[in-house]
Amino acid sequence: MCGIVGFTGKQSAAPILLDGLKKLEYRGYDSAGIAVMDQAQIEVVKVTGRIANLCEKTKDGEAVPGTCGIGHTRWATHGAPTEENAHPHLSNDGRFAVVHNGIIENYIALREELIKDGYHFESETDTEVIVHLIEMYYEGDMREALIRATNRLRGSYALGVICTEEPGKIYAVREASPLILGVGVGENFFASDVTALVNYTRNVIYLEDGEFAELTEESVRIFDVLGKTIDKKVTRILWDVQAAEKGGYEHFMLKEIMEQPGAVKATIAPRIRDGKVFFEELNITQDDLKKVRKIVITACGSAYYAGCSGKYVIEKLARIPVEVELASELRYSDPLIDEHTLLIVISQSGETADTIAAMKECKARGARTLAIVNVVGSTVATLADDTVYTWAGPEIAVATTKGFTTQVAVLYLLAMHFADKLGRLQEKEAHLLKVLESLPRKIQQAIDMNAQIPELAKKYHSSKSLFFIGRNTDYAIALEGALKMKEISYLHAESYAAGELKHGTIALIEDHQPVIAVCCNPSIMEKTLSNIVEVKSRGAEVLALTFRNNQKILSAADDFLFIPEVDPVFSAVVEIIPLQLLAYYVAKENGCDIDKPKNLAKSVTVE
Ligand code: G6P
Repeated sequence: MCGIVGFTGKQSAAPILLDGLKKLEYRGYDSAGIAVMDQAQIEVVKVTGRIANLCEKTKDGEAVPGTCGIGHTRWATHGAPTEENAHPHLSNDGRFAVVHNGIIENYIALREELIKDGYHFESETDTEVIVHLIEMYYEGDMREALIRATNRLRGSYALGVICTEEPGKIYAVREASPLILGVGVGENFFASDVTALVNYTRNVIYLEDGEFAELTEESVRIFDVLGKTIDKKVTRILWDVQAAEKGGYEHFMLKEIMEQPGAVKATIAPRIRDGKVFFEELNITQDDLKKVRKIVITACGSAYYAGCSGKYVIEKLARIPVEVELASELRYSDPLIDEHTLLIVISQSGETADTIAAMKECKARGARTLAIVNVVGSTVATLADDTVYTWAGPEIAVATTKGFTTQVAVLYLLAMHFADKLGRLQEKEAHLLKVLESLPRKIQQAIDMNAQIPELAKKYHSSKSLFFIGRNTDYAIALEGALKMKEISYLHAESYAAGELKHGTIALIEDHQPVIAVCCNPSIMEKTLSNIVEVKSRGAEVLALTFRNNQKILSAADDFLFIPEVDPVFSAVVEIIPLQLLAYYVAKENGCDIDKPKNLAKSVTVE
């Protein structure tokens, strides 16, 4: 889950590498390092902690001369976050340096073999075997050495490599971890993600698995595992550089919460045409849909909860049975999936290892795959039979917000599209389209009508634990609300289907125990109201999420979060907004590192 970056050109490399690493810091931030080549010598500088420490140690890069180098920001998997374990790793002869994102599964066997051959190891990482293998196989030709070394590796890797024998060249290799080349004028780059490149170039090449690149300041050469040169398309990145900057907000998370009206609009608006939901990018015909016996949605984390809320809507409108499965479970469950299954894969990054593995497993069993993805050209997007992009723009905060709401928005659109194709919408269609089109405005209202949240955060931030309850789509949102809370504020937060309270959780309710009740679905409001009364009579403090004029809930609960009136079929995407803001302000009250919560990473590219 680390981030890697590489540069070769005429300018000093270190400041550019540091700048790129700052943009990639969301991928991992427990230690970092750079290796820069100057006059056929490699200088390596490493630190524990954040990129800021690396900037300090290198005087913002000025203390490390050279115009060609590689960098890394780490999220530890093998070995503690120490300087020894930080990348880049050097070969024993000092001629090669390597940065790596991913996991080498067979590193123990390789390590033993290399130790027997006389190589000594400085770190506990899986990565270090790679640099020794390259040294072992290098006979004057880096292409050959890289192909032979990577042939020995099992697992996932995006690699950046430099070699003192080849000054001015940087090498990149991709296998099951993201890697993008940046094509500049008189300078070239690689990085784990475009955010590290857009300050320098908007022309990028997406490497695919099994591809290698050799970059000099003037040339970009790509070759395959046989060493054969490949021609690749250069793609122009269209989004604004500012989209990846904080733009005056204290945190990326707050900025991204505020961007949701625009992001949901960008996701929905182009897909409504002539009174219908219209997906230019989908090739699923009416006949294909008729053959679908069930839809399986798979994802991890918040994307999984987006799937949970999508299930209700697809089943309600299209009347196709939907199962929602955690990707980490699905991949090992010998799933009952065949060519009559439509697999919907949801992923903001498109690089989540479990999600990719579950997808491959289901594809192998014959499922048709439809991906809902934010990052263009990512692995999930490339593997899917059909891909629908969420158009949320770059999401930097580790805890997802606009990534989540745009996923839910696409699920709404798909529910409408499938229902229409199967002739199940009829007279509801015009009304539901209007509701869909109103969602960006409703989200803005939900942001505007909750100015009380910073005060509420002062009341709830010191709680030992928080329980979230709800039913139906309100339950799906309670799940995501609790996840947001624990991710960034480190409070214990659990979500329960409100009807399940009596089957256990109610035993934990005592005086002043906060319960956050999501009550936005009028058809089952009375039921959740009963649960509120039950927990209140046992001493709970209830913070209810509901409408402003909902007298029954207003008279039963203690504190409130509000949403505007919105048709319950599509209300979940609005309901999550006050819960995101609550998590944000509670975390702020607790002095947490909101954009980079401890132990987490944005893109979980390991199992
Ligand atoms: C990590 C992130 C979550 C995200 C999950 C799935 O845990 O911190 O915010 O929901 O991965 O990520 P994906 O990129 O597949 O949506």
